[in-house]
Amino acid sequence: MQLNNEVALVTGGGSGLGRAIVDRFVAEGARVAVLDKSAARLQELQAAHGAKVLGIEGDVRVLADHQKAARECVAAFGKIDCLIPNAGIWDYSMPLVDIPDDRIDAAFDEVFHINVKGYLLAVKACLPALVQSRGSVVFTISNAGFYPNGGGPLYTATKHAVVGMVRQLAFELAPHVRVNGVAPGGMNTDLRGPSSLGMANQAISSVPLGDMLASVLPVGRMPVATEYTGAYVFFATRSDTFPTTGALLNHDGGMGVRGFFEAAGGKDLPQKLQLS
Ligand SMILES: NC(=O)c1ccc[n+]([C@@H]2O[C@H](COP(=O)([O-])OP(=O)(O)OC[C@H]3O[C@@H](n4cnc5c(N)ncnc54)[C@H](O)[C@@H]3O)[C@@H](O)[C@H]2O)c1
Repeated sequence: MQLNNEVALVTGGGSGLGRAIVDRFVAEGARVAVLDKSAARLQELQAAHGAKVLGIEGDVRVLADHQKAARECVAAFGKIDCLIPNAGIWDYSMPLVDIPDDRIDAAFDEVFHINVKGYLLAVKACLPALVQSRGSVVFTISNAGFYPNGGGPLYTATKHAVVGMVRQLAFELAPHVRVNGVAPGGMNTDLRGPSSLGMANQAISSVPLGDMLASVLPVGRMPVATEYTGAYVFFATRSDTFPTTGALLNHDGGMGVRGFFEAAGGKDLPQKLQLS
């Protein structure tokens, strides 16, 4: 178990990728506090993990909610070793031209407040505990932090902003706290959209992402949420990561290396090597 006696705080740990990270961290020996807006999901987590998980209901747009989460995590588990700002929403790839004039202010604020301010506030609230533990931060980014077409301009801009946050905070918090980012690609989760665009009840699982990505990803299929979690374990582990800060992991099935005419260049390797 690579995270024995470590304590993590995960935002948005009630569903999807965050939930997979919580499950994996507990399996690796960690105790985990989770800040999520869904009381029902927090109850499910407690039922699954008992005293190894602490749920704190709150909104990542509110500094006081992060402060409460940090306080309760330290009270219950004694410290915070690793903060994982992860709660987010998607814009369902709505192009700029389609965002209604009378909603663009509200939509910008909603997506940026959750995806960007929610991450900054998490670090702000946990900073004393992280400095004390000489801990680390692992931000969830997205392929949209590096490439177009993984969202509309609102989502893509928020995820590029997180790339900047990794770099700036890795500098600002050194040498006390390491700051890194994992950029997963598509996965079948409950990822919602902004209520200001009428998308609060849409879930990304309603989009046939798996079919769309199968022909586009060099690895040949869309990963499932659990397959992304090992990267978070690596960045949270203390033993092998002393040199690792300001690092960004493209963890998206190879989007940056797909070819012009086909996604994967080596599909016929087994035949050429007479392996099948
Ligand atoms: N699903 C994908 O295809 C995909 C791809 C790349 C990156 N990501 C990123 O992964 C992260 C997690 O998304 P997911 O796909 O697991 O979505 P999800 O909706 O399944 O999980 C997100 C969790 O965050 C919580 N949450 C949302 N807004 C909140 C708020 N204001 N305050 C507190 N909690 C809030 C939700 O209740 C939910 O439990 C996001 O940052 C997302 O951008 C997702």
